[in-house]
Amino acid sequence: MSKQMSHLDNIPSTPGKFKMDKSPYIHNRLRWHSSLAKLTFWSFMFLGLILIFFFRSPSSNPLPQDPSRRSLRTYNWGGPAWEKRVRSSARIRSRNGISVLVTGAAGFVGTHVSAALKRRGDGVLGLDNFNDYYDPSLKRARQALLERSGVFIVEGDINDSALLRKLFEVVAFTHVMHLAAQAGVRYAMENPGSYVHSNIAGFVNLLEVCKSANPQPAIVWASSSSVYGLNTKVPFSERDRTDQPASLYAATKKAGEEIAHTYNHIYGLSLTGLRFFTVYGPWGRPDMAYFFFTRDILKGKSISIFEAANHGTVARDFTYIDDIVKGCLAALDTAEKSSGSGGKKKGPAQLRVFNLGNTSPVPVSDLVSILERLLKVNAKRNIMKLPRNGDVQFTHANISLAQRELGYKPSTDLQTGLKKFVRWYLSYYSGGQKAAG
Ligand SMILES: NC(=O)c1ccc[n+]([C@@H]2O[C@H](COP(=O)([O-])OP(=O)(O)OC[C@H]3O[C@@H](n4cnc5c(N)ncnc54)[C@H](O)[C@@H]3O)[C@@H](O)[C@H]2O)c1
Ligand SMILES: *[C@@H]1O[C@H](CO)[C@@H](O)[C@H](O)[C@H]1NC(C)=O
Ligand SMILES: *[C@@H]1O[C@H](CO)[C@@H](O)[C@H](O)[C@H]1NC(C)=O
Repeated sequence: MSKQMSHLDNIPSTPGKFKMDKSPYIHNRLRWHSSLAKLTFWSFMFLGLILIFFFRSPSSNPLPQDPSRRSLRTYNWGGPAWEKRVRSSARIRSRNGISVLVTGAAGFVGTHVSAALKRRGDGVLGLDNFNDYYDPSLKRARQALLERSGVFIVEGDINDSALLRKLFEVVAFTHVMHLAAQAGVRYAMENPGSYVHSNIAGFVNLLEVCKSANPQPAIVWASSSSVYGLNTKVPFSERDRTDQPASLYAATKKAGEEIAHTYNHIYGLSLTGLRFFTVYGPWGRPDMAYFFFTRDILKGKSISIFEAANHGTVARDFTYIDDIVKGCLAALDTAEKSSGSGGKKKGPAQLRVFNLGNTSPVPVSDLVSILERLLKVNAKRNIMKLPRNGDVQFTHANISLAQRELGYKPSTDLQTGLKKFVRWYLSYYSGGQKAAG
């Protein structure tokens, strides 16, 4: 709100501040029409004020931008038309529906979850900063898809507290589906600050606003299988140790789980963390292996396949997006209300963590073989040793807890899921879109 004040400081609050007739530069011969001039002048000033109030966004930042600092990027939001879109997107259209703020809505998982919620009549408002960690045109295409089904994505950052407070002022969200994050394991060595910005500062900011909201929403958020890190006991269960992260990404997700514990404990926020295991599917992420393998195989470019020491297999518990969406919706539907109000805890609240995987790890070389068959192109394989820069040798989820509590039951095997991905990939990148990179 201080930004707003500084803007208004430039505008006279009362006309009395301008005493034109006391100016020594006004000649006497002009006096005869000065009252008319004054009337005209103040009419214009008044009109201008009204126009400014109507059309300026409350957050437009007058400071110059530094393009090297993503966190300083500013967005236009606010105004009556914007609020109308926010309200309309978040309006519940079914009996017993919920209203959900989906962060990271232009992302892979966020787009699918938002569409699924909207389809069943829930109110959905998206939030995304459209950063360029990967090709933003894919995020824009997902946004266009959601727009057609009536989901509005607010353009802004989860670390912007004024924006978040405004959103909760306009809509009394019952739930938050928090998917915005800096993802990717290897990129953390290139840009560690972006992980701190989104996964730590942004998450804390979101929780701060949620704890002060009245009513407090229930929050479901994406953690990651990467929290299991160097854990060697398989399959990974929620009770296994998660204190040996192998990447900064994993460490920020683990920190998120601890931060969630704190906000649950102090403020009575209902919090559910979902540890996703390698999610894939249509509209997926170009920085993930199944995606860029597809691109490179089609281009005839060689692909690097990692193996562990002693020709050890690198395997992933690939989970199809539709199964993940079902898990997310079940987590929202079983989330209990937060117990606090006005920033004060009133009683204990729910705190949960679930694995959402597929329970069948597949060697990465098998993934490549499936893609070769689907694309009808032979891959140029370049076998390399798994570098120690964040990737773990294998992941395997024990999902019995999610099965019991959420009714979670993944039903798509890798072959079936990749077929759907490849069909989407070919149609998306042949429809006038150029394959990135
Ligand atoms: N896809 C997977 O395999 C996988 C596995 C484990 C965990 N996750 C987690 O699931 C969530 C969704 O992942 P995804 O695959 O859809 O990733 P994604 O990168 O496609 O989506 C994340 C979205 O959040 C947005 N975003 C990032 N920082 C933001 C910020 N500060 N403010 C506002 N928006 C911001 C991005 O622009 C992006 O659109 C993430 O939290 C991710 O860490 C994903
Ligand atoms: C997040 O926002 C806060 C408050 O505006 C700011 O002080 C902080 O620098 C931001 N953090 C990051 C990492 O961008
Ligand atoms: C899976 O986790 C459950 C607890 O949720 C545990 O009882 C079970 O023994 C685990 N299964 C395996 C195979 O580790």
